[in-house]
Amino acid sequence: MPDPSLILGRRVVVVGYGNQGRAHALNLRDRGVAVTVGAREGRGAERAREDGFDPKPIRQAVDGAQVVALLLPDESLGKVFAAEVAPSLAPGASLVFAHGFSVVYGLLEPPEGVGCVLVSPVGPGTALREEFVAGRGIPAMLAAQPEGLLPLAGSYAWGLGCDRARLVETTFREETECDLFGEQAVLCGGMPALAEAAFETLVEAGFSPEVAYLECVHQVRLLAELVASVGVAGMRKRISDTAEWGSYQVGPEVVGEASREAMRRALERIRSGEFARGWVAEAEAGKPRLLAFREADRSSRIEATRRRLFPTTPE
Ligand SMILES: NC(=O)c1ccc[n+]([C@@H]2O[C@H](COP(=O)([O-])OP(=O)(O)OC[C@H]3O[C@@H](n4cnc5c(N)ncnc54)[C@H](OP(=O)(O)O)[C@@H]3O)[C@@H](O)[C@H]2O)c1
Repeated sequence: MPDPSLILGRRVVVVGYGNQGRAHALNLRDRGVAVTVGAREGRGAERAREDGFDPKPIRQAVDGAQVVALLLPDESLGKVFAAEVAPSLAPGASLVFAHGFSVVYGLLEPPEGVGCVLVSPVGPGTALREEFVAGRGIPAMLAAQPEGLLPLAGSYAWGLGCDRARLVETTFREETECDLFGEQAVLCGGMPALAEAAFETLVEAGFSPEVAYLECVHQVRLLAELVASVGVAGMRKRISDTAEWGSYQVGPEVVGEASREAMRRALERIRSGEFARGWVAEAEAGKPRLLAFREADRSSRIEATRRRLFPTTPE
C-alpha cells in the first residue's frame, strides 16, 4: 500500500502541461498535493490557467521544489533539463519521469544526490484523468534510482489515482524497452499496419473500400476492448465459433516466422540504442521524415475511406 503522506508533504512541480502533465497536475491537486505548474508560454500554459493554475516559467517553478515531474516530449527532455531545470534544482530533490527514455539513453544526467523516480501510467493522459474523475484509475509502472526512492514513486502514483487500478514494480530499462517495443510491434505500428494491409487486400481484390474498412478497421476497437477486459481466450469465447475457428487457422499464418523475426530485429534496435539515436537525430533535424510519414498517412486510401464513412469524426 502506498504511503500518501510522502507526496502530500512535499512541494511538487509539474513541468510541461501536455498530455501527461495536465492529468498529473489535476489528479495530484485533487488528491490534496501542493502542485505548481512550470511551463513555457504557449498552449500548455494557457490550458493550465484555464484549469486554475498559475503557471510559472520552468526555472522559477523548479526553484526550491522537492519533487519535479518532467513531463516533456522525450526527445527534447534532456535539453530542457540542462537549460531550465538543472540550474535551479534543489540538492536532494527527486525527479519524476513518466517514461524512462531520457534516463536509459543518457539524454539527461541528474546532478549528484538527485534521485530519479519512474511513475509510468499505462495509458494516455486523457484516460488517466477521465478514470480518476470517475473514481477509478489506470495501472502504473514504478521504478526508482536509487531503489530507496520506491516509496516516493508509490506515493506519487497514489496522487495520480493509479493505486486504484494496479501498481507494478519494474526498472527504468525494462519499462523503456518494453514500452517502445509494445508501441512499435503492436499498438501503434503492428496493429494499424495489419489492419491497413487487410483493408488493401480486400480493395485490391475488388471489394468496396467502405465494406473493407468496416470489416478490417472499424471493428478493431470492439475486439481490442474485449482483449483488454477479458484476455485473448476470453475474447475468443465471446465471438462466433466460425470466427474463432478461422482465427486459429489464419492468425499464426499472417503473423508467422517472418513477423517474429521482424519483431526480434525491432527489439534489438531498441536494446542497442540504435532506435533512440535515430529518433533523437530526426528530432534535432526538425522531424522531416516524421512529417513526410504523417502526410502520407493523411492522404492514404484508408484515410479517405474513413473520411467518407465518418465525415464528422475529428482528424
Ligand atoms: N502521451 C502518452 O500517452 C504518454 C503515456 C505515458 C507516458 N508518457 C510520457 O510522458 C512524458 C510527456 O509526454 P506527453 O505525451 O505528455 O508530451 P506532450 O503532450 O507532447 O506535452 C509536452 C509538453 O511539453 C511542453 N514542451 C515541449 N517542448 C518544450 C520545450 N522545448 N520547452 C518547454 N516546454 C516544452 C509542451 O508545451 P506547449 O504546450 O507550449 O507545446 C507541452 O506542454 C514523456 O516522457 C512521455 O513518454 C506519455
